[in-house]
Amino acid sequence: MTDRETLIAAARAARENALAPYSNFRVGAAVRSGSGRIFAGCNIENSSYGLTVCAERVAIWKALSEGERVFSAIAVVTDADALTPPCGACRQILWEFCGDAEVVLANLKGQVEVHRMSELFPRPFDASHL
Ligand code: THU
Repeated sequence: MTDRETLIAAARAARENALAPYSNFRVGAAVRSGSGRIFAGCNIENSSYGLTVCAERVAIWKALSEGERVFSAIAVVTDADALTPPCGACRQILWEFCGDAEVVLANLKGQVEVHRMSELFPRPFDASHL
């Protein structure tokens, strides 16, 4: 397996743990850190819908809380025919912590697209503006 396939597989496995009883939209994500470790996450919904956390943020919070600070790629896996990109809030978080990382979108059929954060999140607000 290539590194990219390994990352997709980790996101796909994490998706199995999704807690999505309200939307039934199950998402898995996995980030690769500079040290090569992979941290995966799934979406976790709440009956107070606004408290839901996306898979991407669960994955990045896990990695950051383990001390990782450099990231090269993130994969997002859903069962959708139109591949699922990170939501706006997650793009802001990903830009803050992952910079211009590779963003791999995939679905259960094996369709894959590769993007970069700078393409998905042009003209970001970040620390350079403060
Ligand atoms: N969701 C994610 O986990 N990541 C995305 O990139 C898009 C949306 C989740 C949030 C919610 O649990 C469900 O998908 C429907 O919005």
